Amino acid sequence: MLIDALGSENERLAKGKFEPHGKTVESEPARPRGPRLVVVSNRVGVPDGNARAGGLEVAIRPALRRRGGVWFGWSGRVADEPGPAKTIEKDATTYITVDLKKDDYDEFYNGFANRVLWPILHYRLDLAEFTRRDLGGYLRVNDYFASHIETLLKPDDVIWVHDYHLIPLAKALRARGHRNRIGFFIHVPFPPPEILTALPNHDRLITALCHYDVVGFQTDIDAANFCRYVANECALPWANGNSFHFGSRTVQVGTFPVGVESEAFGRLGRRAIESAFVREVLDSLSGRAMIIGVDRLDYSKGIPERMDAYERFLANFPDWRGKVTYLQITPRSRSGIPEYNDISRKVGEAVGRINGAYGEASWTPLRYINKAHSRSALAGLYRAARVGLVTPLRDGMNLVAKEFVAAQNPDDPGVLILSRFAGAAHECTAALLINPYDPEGVGNAISRALDMPLAERRERHATNFAALVRNDLSRWAERFLATLEKRPAAADEHPLARAASA
Ligand code: F6P
Repeated sequence: MLIDALGSENERLAKGKFEPHGKTVESEPARPRGPRLVVVSNRVGVPDGNARAGGLEVAIRPALRRRGGVWFGWSGRVADEPGPAKTIEKDATTYITVDLKKDDYDEFYNGFANRVLWPILHYRLDLAEFTRRDLGGYLRVNDYFASHIETLLKPDDVIWVHDYHLIPLAKALRARGHRNRIGFFIHVPFPPPEILTALPNHDRLITALCHYDVVGFQTDIDAANFCRYVANECALPWANGNSFHFGSRTVQVGTFPVGVESEAFGRLGRRAIESAFVREVLDSLSGRAMIIGVDRLDYSKGIPERMDAYERFLANFPDWRGKVTYLQITPRSRSGIPEYNDISRKVGEAVGRINGAYGEASWTPLRYINKAHSRSALAGLYRAARVGLVTPLRDGMNLVAKEFVAAQNPDDPGVLILSRFAGAAHECTAALLINPYDPEGVGNAISRALDMPLAERRERHATNFAALVRNDLSRWAERFLATLEKRPAAADEHPLARAASA
């Protein structure tokens, strides 16, 4: 995943399908099907040659490619006086982005979204920073988005809102009188009410989700946590096990685990392992086994804990010293936020400690780089690695885990070591599932993965890959949108719902 320099491979993947023999086949042009789709997310995968590819953008882009529509969100720029929205048309999709003012950026993105909601949604009450002023900025930006979106809305547009930045967006649109079908999908974990209720104003914020027609989660646990919140805190009548009444509407709750384009990513890995870049990396390893970790620099990813585990592995399994290299690729992220600078320092210290204690003049046990790599480069590295270390302390899904599996050679696959606290663990059940807080256990899993017999590696990989194919990325978008499109358009808002909007 991660940042995408949008190298040519990725551009080609975005435009068409790879054939096994390397020819690129243009995919069918988007065919508008049913009502127009309007996607709203904080980040937008604008095809400007500099697109980033966070998990969310990678997931949404193919859905819009197939179906066409509008993708609205933040431009990624901060301006003193934001001008009018910018529009780019490409492949039947209209990308519309707006700048944020400095105050809005500080209070919305660096403030409430990423210093209050992000830690709480990742079960980290200890890292949450609460200020009322920041909630004000968060609501203000949602309102600002709503004011732009309403200028382009048609009455029968289907609106699909993504992630924790935009929880109150439907409420802001309903308050402006829009009755469109609006769905919400949260890409990150949704914690139990016992954690969520530590959020000041949780009642104001979380009940805003009731203004959507469909609310989707990555796993059944996340969905059940939300249902429990609704039951405990909102006292709304249930229509059945997975939908409840809110005013004149029924809100449907569902689980829609995000997938990857398994076959296409596999083909990308197969080609990329032959690239000059991957060959150069492999040559530099001088035949040593490679362990790979790829994560945004974020405390939820458990990177220092993973490095502690690697250190335990080197201490407990001395035969492997000098025979293995752990490559950790970690582009910096959210660097305006103090907790992210802290994690950067911690990781740097762990790298220095491990290389200092175990390194030799001829061997660096741990290579740590902050440079972002293209998806094709990552696909090739995944395929070349003997072990994929994906050990977040908490993660909504984690598409690196799925892409690692998709990129493997089925005849000689690497082994995925996966945190039980990542959403992907619900599908990749044949990975070595570990507790990321337990360095001894993860160290043992590294040894087991490196020593695993070929037959077991093949069997585990086949099971995981079959799970990916069953839930390919295209199914995710289709299932969510089919559920949303079945919902009746909202009738006049019930007074109860109107009061809640006030
Ligand atoms: O879902 C997590 C998320 O917010 C995604 O939207 C995005 O892929 C990733 O984190 C990157 O975060 P940011 O947009 O803050 O750089």
